Amino acid sequence: TDTPALDQYGRRIDYLRVSLTDRCNMRCVYCMPAVGMQFAPRPELLTNDELLLVMRAAARAGFRKLRLTGGEPTLRHDLINLVRELKRIPGIEHIAMTTNALRLRKLAQPLREAGLDRVNISIDTLDPVKFRMMTRGGRLDEVWAGIEAADAAGLHPIKLNAVVVRGMNDEEVVRLAGLTLDRPWEFRFIEVMPLTGVAGLAEEGIVTSAELIARLEQHYGPLEEIGHAPSDPARTYRLPGAKGVIGFISSVSDPFCSTCNRMRLTADGRLHLCLLRDDEVDLRAAVRNGATVEEIEQIIRHAVYIKPWGHGLPEGVKPTLRGMSELGG
Ligand code: GTP
Ligand code: 5AD
Ligand code: SF4
Repeated sequence: TDTPALDQYGRRIDYLRVSLTDRCNMRCVYCMPAVGMQFAPRPELLTNDELLLVMRAAARAGFRKLRLTGGEPTLRHDLINLVRELKRIPGIEHIAMTTNALRLRKLAQPLREAGLDRVNISIDTLDPVKFRMMTRGGRLDEVWAGIEAADAAGLHPIKLNAVVVRGMNDEEVVRLAGLTLDRPWEFRFIEVMPLTGVAGLAEEGIVTSAELIARLEQHYGPLEEIGHAPSDPARTYRLPGAKGVIGFISSVSDPFCSTCNRMRLTADGRLHLCLLRDDEVDLRAAVRNGATVEEIEQIIRHAVYIKPWGHGLPEGVKPTLRGMSELGG
C-alpha cells in the first residue's frame, strides 16, 4: 500500500513527530512548570521493538518524515541503534531530531553515521546566566559545543529555535538573528504557546512575530522574504548579506493549521492528532494486544482521517492537558 493518507479536510499527513521520552535534562520555563512535573514510569513507554512496529505501520500509512523529539530525545536508551533501525524502514525518507544539544558533543557523529539527517536545536539566549535561568540549570557552553558538533558532523541544514519570552530574551533578538550573518544556519523565533503548566507565562510573555520583525528591521534594514514550503511552520527571511536565514513561527498570532502535515506519537504510544487538542488514539494497547503491522496501519489511517482542524478551539472544547514536554513541541 503506497497511497498517501489524507485527513477529512484533504490535508496530506506525512510527517510524524515521535516523542522518545517525556524526560529532559533541562526544564525550560516555557515548557515545564517549576514544580509538580510527573514523568511516565518506564513500563508505560513503548520499547524500541514496539516503536519500530508502529513506525513500520506509519510508513505503510503514508508517513515519509520522522522527527524524534522528547522531552529530550538523546536521553533515550539505545538511541543510535534505534535511529539505524528506523532508517531501514521502507518509505521513511527523512529522519530529523529536535534536541537541546546538551549531549550532542558526543552523539552528533554516531547519530549521523546511524542515518540521522538533521537536527533542530533550542537555544534561547547567548548569555550563560540567562540561559541557566531560562532552562533552569542548562549549561550554554555544552549546548554551543553540541551545535558545533552537529555542524561538523554534517547534520545540515541546522535550525536553531528560540522561544521568545518578554522580559527574558526579547531584548536579545537582534544578537540572535545576527548569528546568521556568518553561519549558514536557520534561526527561528517561536511565539510562546499557552500549554498546560505554562499558560500564565505564555499569556503574559508572548512577543508576536510582527513585533520582532519590526525590531529587526529597525536594526538591520528591510528583511528580504524567501519562499518556503506550504507546510513549513516558519516564514523565512534573510538579513542583508547574511549566509543563513531567519524564520518566525507564529503559532499564536497566525496559526498555520490549514497547511498542517503532521501528527505526534507520545512516548507512551498514543497518536496525538493535533498539538493543542486532546484527541488521541491508543496504539500501545493495539501493539500490546498483538496487532499486526497491517492492523496498526489501518488504525493509523483512521486516526489521520479524523485529525481535528486545529486551534480556534470551539467554545466549550478544552485545550490538551498534556504539557509541551510530553508532546515534543
Ligand atoms: P522542520 O522539519 O525543520 O520544518 O521542523 P519543525 O519546525 O517542524 O520542528 P521543530 O521541532 O523545530 O518545531 C519548532 C516549533 O514549531 C515547535 O516547537 C512548535 O512551537 C512549533 N510547531 C511545530 N509543530 C506545530 C504544530 O503542529 N502546531 C503548532 N501550532 N505549532 C507547531
Ligand atoms: N511554546 C512554543 N514552543 C515551545 N517549545 C517548548 N515549549 C514551548 C511553548 N510553550 C519548543 C522548544 C523546542 C520545541 C521542541 O518546542 O523551543 O524547540
Ligand atoms: Fe527540555 Fe525541550 Fe522542554 Fe526545554 S523545551 S525543558 S529542552 S523538552
